Amino acid sequence: MNARIARMMGSIGVAIAMVAAAMPAIAAGPGTLTITAGKEQRSWTADQLLHDPRLTDITIDDENLKQRVSLKAIPFAALLAGLPAMPEGTATTAATDGYVSHLPMRRLLAEDRAQPRAWLAVENPAAPWPMLRGQGIGPFRLVWTAPAGRAETVTESYWTYNIERIEINASPAERYPAIRPAANLPADGPVMRGFVAFQRVCLSCHSLNGAGDAHLGPDLNMPYSPVESSATTSSRG
Ligand code: HEC
Repeated sequence: MNARIARMMGSIGVAIAMVAAAMPAIAAGPGTLTITAGKEQRSWTADQLLHDPRLTDITIDDENLKQRVSLKAIPFAALLAGLPAMPEGTATTAATDGYVSHLPMRRLLAEDRAQPRAWLAVENPAAPWPMLRGQGIGPFRLVWTAPAGRAETVTESYWTYNIERIEINASPAERYPAIRPAANLPADGPVMRGFVAFQRVCLSCHSLNGAGDAHLGPDLNMPYSPVESSATTSSRG
C-alpha cells in the first residue's frame, strides 16, 4: 500500500484493503526532476544534481523519517534561479504515487535566517536513504532546516518525497474557482480557516467539485458529498 495512505489510515485506526493502482508518471522519465514556471521548464537527473556545485551536506530533524539525518541538498531557492517564480505563487509538487502538495512560494523562497529554509534533497545511490514503511522516498524530496536555536516548525505536509514534478503557478483557489468558498466570507472566519487547512492537507489527495490536481482519494463532492457539515462542503457557498 502507498506509504502516505497507510500512514493516514493507520493514524485514524482504520484497516482497509485497497487495490494498488498503477499511477502513470507524466514526467521526463524516471529519476528526473522537472520544474515548470510559466513557459520555462528545467529538468535534472539525480546524477546531474549530485554533481551540482551548489550541493551541500545538511543535517535535518526529518519529519518523514522521524529521526535526525544528514543528506545532500541544494537550497530550493537556488534551483529556481532564472525561472519566473513569484513569492505570491504556489509550488505544486507531484510525486510518483500521485500525491500532490501545494506550497506557498513565500515559504520556499525565504532566505531570512529566522525562517525555516527549504532544500531539495537528492538521494545518492551509493548511500540510499532509509525506507519509509518499506518504500523508498527518493530520489528527490523537499526538506527543511530549522532556524538556528529553534525547533522545526514546518508542517509535515510540506515535507514531500518521491517528487518528479514541481509546477509554479497561481494558488489552487485561483486556478480552480469551483473549490472556492463564497467571496464575501471573512478571512478569519471558520469557513476560510477551514479552507486554508483543506488546501494544505486534503487537496494533496482529493479533488473537490471535480477540480484539483490530485486523485489519490475520491472527489469530495461528486458524484455525492460524503460529509454534510465541514469546511469542505460549505465551500459550495
Ligand atoms: C494521503 C492522501 C489523503 C489525504 C491527505 C486525505 N485523504 Fe481523504 N481519502 C483518501 C483515500 C485514498 C480515500 C479513499 C479511502 C477508501 O476508499 O476507503 C479517502 C476518503 C475520504 C473520504 C470518503 C470519501 C467517499 O466518497 O467515501 C472523505 C470524506 C475524505 N477522504 C475526506 C478527507 C479530508 C476532509 C481530508 C483533509 C482533512 C482528507 N480526506 C485527506 C486519501 C487522503
